[in-house]
Amino acid sequence: MKQENRESAPGQNCPPRGPIAPALLEWFYRHRRSLPFREDPTPYHIWVSEIMLQQTRMTAAVPYYLRFIQALPTVEDLARCPEDQLAKLWEGLGYYSRMRNLQKAARVICEKYGGALPASLEELKKLPGVGEYTAGAIASIGFGLPAPAVDGNVLRVFSRLWRDERDISTPAAKKECAARVMAQQPPEAAGDFNQALMELGALVCLPGTPDCAACPLKELCSSYGTPDAARLPVKAPRAERKVRPVTVVLARSEQGFLLGRRGRGGLLAGLWQPLLWEEGLEKEETLARLKQMGLEPESSEALPPARHVFTHVEWRMSGWYCRVGQAPAPEGFVWAEPDQIREEYALPGAFKVYRALMLDESGNFL
Ligand code: ADE
Repeated sequence: MKQENRESAPGQNCPPRGPIAPALLEWFYRHRRSLPFREDPTPYHIWVSEIMLQQTRMTAAVPYYLRFIQALPTVEDLARCPEDQLAKLWEGLGYYSRMRNLQKAARVICEKYGGALPASLEELKKLPGVGEYTAGAIASIGFGLPAPAVDGNVLRVFSRLWRDERDISTPAAKKECAARVMAQQPPEAAGDFNQALMELGALVCLPGTPDCAACPLKELCSSYGTPDAARLPVKAPRAERKVRPVTVVLARSEQGFLLGRRGRGGLLAGLWQPLLWEEGLEKEETLARLKQMGLEPESSEALPPARHVFTHVEWRMSGWYCRVGQAPAPEGFVWAEPDQIREEYALPGAFKVYRALMLDESGNFL
């Protein structure tokens, strides 16, 4: 390698010692995980799986993916899917604005492109919820077009290959990484090359504990054999999240549990939830609010506390399980039996602990 490329201390920010594609692809073809969207990588399948993989780990995403594709096998099915069914298919995955964008984009694809995703990086990027990474993944894996698909795994692999100290959370570093990927990507194997990089990051070039001995690129890697292999990449700490107390009431009457639909904007928009207030309330105040809603509390027991971390806020939840007398559901609420909670109403993962209590037939609270 040309020494004059070195920009800082010797060995740092310095290209890999040769082309990475041959060893990387050979490794990929031997070690790649068999995944349902890899076995049938249509652009629609790649799109749905990539959006899900932005939310959760591979093992958790696969059952969601299979259920989703079985229920909505085409872009048209997704475009036409009723909101509550879609929320049910997404239940527990989190980040529901992604699900809404998926459907918005499906509608655009039907109206503008006759139901087939466009085979163009630039057109893909115009779809709601499809950013640089997702467009690159669909273009390369789904259509075989040369394009970068730079996710966190690829940023980590490249920062180590180059022994690059720059903060990978900056747009400039992502752009530079994409250029470095393209300089190495064989145009005839764009999708496999991108997937191989992600797979290497997921299986070998792990955060904090890379398995360098098993790495097909070790001879080419500028960090190999140095402490930088484990230390890199450099990433600026994200801004601290706000912590918000939330008071939850599992209001149980003969007709079921009281569920309300969240408002159209903001966090968890349009999804179902138990009765709650996004503030910390004393028991007395909480019971007074139930009465104001026309509910008559008969008993109350403290709920176990629970936390949920969203991107920008953390909820600290606590509250009461209240038996209430029969009453009409207040405006905007429904009474839902446990079976309906199981099958009809999508309750976000934030309420996992309380959902389990509502479905629990152990009698703990009965
Ligand atoms: N993570 C996100 N997309 C992936 C893919 N296509 N292969 C491996 N890991 C991934």
